[in-house]
Amino acid sequence: MTPHRTLVVVAHPDLENSRITAQLTAAIKDVEHVTVHNLAAAYPDRRVDAAREQELLRGHDTIVLQFPWHWYSVPGVLKEWMDQVLTYGFAYGSGGDALHGKRLQLVISTGGPESSYTPAGHNRFTMAELLRPLEATAHLCGLDMAQPLVLHSAPRVAADELDRHAARYRELLAPAAVAGR
Ligand SMILES: Cc1cc2nc3c(=O)[nH]c(=O)nc-3n(C[C@H](O)[C@H](O)[C@H](O)COP(=O)(O)O)c2cc1C
Repeated sequence: MTPHRTLVVVAHPDLENSRITAQLTAAIKDVEHVTVHNLAAAYPDRRVDAAREQELLRGHDTIVLQFPWHWYSVPGVLKEWMDQVLTYGFAYGSGGDALHGKRLQLVISTGGPESSYTPAGHNRFTMAELLRPLEATAHLCGLDMAQPLVLHSAPRVAADELDRHAARYRELLAPAAVAGR
C-alpha cells in the first residue's frame, strides 16, 4: 500500500524574521511522508514554476497551506502561487480534476486574539466567515477541507503554548493520523 503523502506549502514572505511559522515548520520537517516546500525560498522573484508545483500536488494526498494571516487573507506569496498553479484544466473546469478527493489542511497564525474575531470584536467577522473564499476555492477544486488549525495572538503567545501548538500540528500530520481519516 502506498503511504499517505503530505505536502506542506509554507508561505511566509520573510521566514528568517518569523517566530511562529519558523517554529511550526521546524516541528514538522522530519515527520514521515511529509514534504516541506518553502515558497519564498523556491521563488524569491515570485515567478512560480506552475508545472513543477502541479507535479508536487499530484504526488501528494494531503495539501497543507501554512501561512501567517495577512490582511484577512493569505500572504501575497501564496496568492501568487494560487493564481499561477490552480489553473483551468488542472484544478477546475473541463478535465480539471487533479486535486479531486485530496485533503486540504489550512494552518494559520493571526496577530489578533480569538475574541477579536467575533461580531462584537475589532475584526468584526469570525475566522469561519473570513475563510469563506478559501472554502469556496477548495470546493471548486474538489478538495476536502479539514478544520483549519489556527493560532491566535501570535505576537504574544507564550513559549510553552507555542510548543504545545507545534506538538498538535505534528500529531495532525503524523502518518497514523492522516491515514485514519
Ligand atoms: C502585512 C501583514 C498583515 C497582517 N494582517 C493581519 C490581519 O489581517 N489580521 C491579524 O490578525 N494579523 C495580521 N497580521 C499579523 C500576523 O498574522 C502575525 O504577525 C503572524 O501570524 C505571526 O507569524 P510569524 O511569526 O510566522 O510571522 C499581519 C502581519 C503582517 C506583516
